[in-house]
Amino acid sequence: MDIKIRKFEDRDAARVAVIMFGSFRAVFGDLLGTEPKPESYWKEISHSERGGIIVTSFVAETDNNVIGYLRVSINPGNGLGVLEVIGVDPESFSRGIGKALFAAAEVFWKKNNIRKVYTCTSHINTNAQAFYKKLGFIEEGRLKDHFHKGLDEIQLGKFYD
Ligand SMILES: CC(C)(COP(=O)(O)OP(=O)(O)OC[C@H]1O[C@@H](n2cnc3c(N)ncnc32)[C@H](O)[C@@H]1OP(=O)(O)O)[C@@H](O)C(=O)NCCC(=O)NCCS
Repeated sequence: MDIKIRKFEDRDAARVAVIMFGSFRAVFGDLLGTEPKPESYWKEISHSERGGIIVTSFVAETDNNVIGYLRVSINPGNGLGVLEVIGVDPESFSRGIGKALFAAAEVFWKKNNIRKVYTCTSHINTNAQAFYKKLGFIEEGRLKDHFHKGLDEIQLGKFYD
């Protein structure tokens, strides 16, 4: 499968809304809501530059069809990058899409001399934990009942220096 990674453009927002809803629903069912976030949300949060923090996003395409999305950020002030969110169309899980998106993010982080990247994922999301660990993240902590009651967040970090 030929995977192309490119920067998110506003024209991707409708498709990204569908993918992200589907990918999280595959893990959490109705727990995180029953409606996709609107297109406007994805346009607004996918790129910004405020207070020195730069947010950018990537999409993965096969045959001109967007099947994955990744949003990352950097804070050049402290050398910390964040993997904000990643999602792949459930029909394309385990085909290297997430890994290809992450490789693009690593190029971006390294170009910006980022020394560490951080992310977190729910304790029940064992697939994502396995994915992140495969990509070199190590567990750093656990936040109780963090974004939702009954869901702890597993904190993960990866160092580049
Ligand atoms: C987590 C997610 C992004 C992984 O994307 P993916 O395209 O399915 O993953 P890849 O095929 O690129 O896998 C990369 C590596 O991670 C590992 N991995 C991926 N999914 C895994 C799983 N379910 N169990 C164990 N390992 C897994 C694979 O072993 C693979 O290693 P390999 O390259 O040696 O084969 C995807 O499953 C997803 O969108 N999940 C729902 C949303 C989510 O949970 N996002 C993350 C939390 S914010």
